[in-house]
Amino acid sequence: MKVTRARILLVGLLAGVLLVLPASGYGKGSASQLEVFSWWTGGGEAHGLDALIKIWNKAHPTMHVKNSAVAGGAGTNAKAVLAQRLAAHKPPDSFQGHAGAELQDYIKAGQLEPIDFIYKKYGLSQVFPTQLINQIRYKGKLYSVPVNIHRANILWYNPATLKKAGISGAPKSWGQFISALQKAKAKNLIPLALAEQWTQKHLMETVMIGSLGPKGWAALWKKGANWNSPQVTAALNRFKTVLSYTNTDAASLTWQDASKLVADGKAAFNIMGDWADGYFRVDLKKKAGSGYGWAAVPGTANVYDWLSDSFTLPKGAPHRAAAVQWLGFLGSRRAQDTFNPLKGSIPARKDANTKLYPTYLKYALVQWKGDTLAGSLTHGVVANNKWNTDIDSALGVFLQTKNVARFQSALVAAAKKDA
Ligand code: GAL
Repeated sequence: MKVTRARILLVGLLAGVLLVLPASGYGKGSASQLEVFSWWTGGGEAHGLDALIKIWNKAHPTMHVKNSAVAGGAGTNAKAVLAQRLAAHKPPDSFQGHAGAELQDYIKAGQLEPIDFIYKKYGLSQVFPTQLINQIRYKGKLYSVPVNIHRANILWYNPATLKKAGISGAPKSWGQFISALQKAKAKNLIPLALAEQWTQKHLMETVMIGSLGPKGWAALWKKGANWNSPQVTAALNRFKTVLSYTNTDAASLTWQDASKLVADGKAAFNIMGDWADGYFRVDLKKKAGSGYGWAAVPGTANVYDWLSDSFTLPKGAPHRAAAVQWLGFLGSRRAQDTFNPLKGSIPARKDANTKLYPTYLKYALVQWKGDTLAGSLTHGVVANNKWNTDIDSALGVFLQTKNVARFQSALVAAAKKDA
């Protein structure tokens, strides 16, 4: 009798335990959370991630996503927080990084697991373009799943504002651009809206690509490159001229603030990545073509200054099995076609359902196929974190002094040290 009672108690207990164990087999109990780290918190950034999390959470009731996004455009704050966590061996389950040199930093530091097995398991090996795979492969192995392709060299404008200022359409050449900026200034508009320092580097990058061309730009990131050339001097002088048409409170604005100045008709232009399309359309509910317009930055027609957000499997991820599934999910057509129309990016996958992509993104999908590629500096493709930091310091001084010669020497020194 006693034995039977004990048995009943044991079976009851086991049933209770089984009830709380997740059906999906992660084995960590109902309280487990898959920690995903990114910098997508604000307007134009969060909607895409939120949509992914919603799908994931529905399919994984015992392993919801813990969204550990750290605010700050281009990951300026997030990357610092992440570096500290990785150094303390407290990685999240998966984190965002940029394809190219930026991700290689983490790989070289031994902080990431190779994930070729995920590509095999989820059939991802053939779905991404070769030029992208080449950027995320390191010594023959893959370390991340790209969710998108962004374009950095876009000149955004408000068609109604241009009309008011007597500017006939988006300028194509630098001469046309400067005269458009002058017209806007004469009408008491902010000619070119600008924000905090990373957006100023973003502006510099697009001006340099527009001046040097994609070949000249690519050459700068090779060992022994000539940063001392008169062409670089000319590009930096052009950057200085363009800066003179920007708002003086730039340092205290976010990229969304600067884009909004255009949407609100207070500024004529803004040079920003195409996450601004997500912001104009999804957050500000503006109509493509009438509420906002776009063109390639002058001198960069048919050049795609590209970058790609990729997610990783850090070594020591606390919920590794779930992280593996998360990465497989991110690579899926469903995830990419959910995320990208909201984010203002085109999918990294080659087989997107193009019907789901609104006006700007339809244009981007076509451009991506035919354009010459230039890797982004500000968004991790061409230079590692250290080189980026040295360029940031040089740029910080330049923004104060506007001394081109001194800036160029600092860039020469950075290239010698970090290439
Ligand atoms: C980039 C990132 C984009 C976007 C942008 C602004 O570095 O790749 O996805 O978030 O920053 O924060």
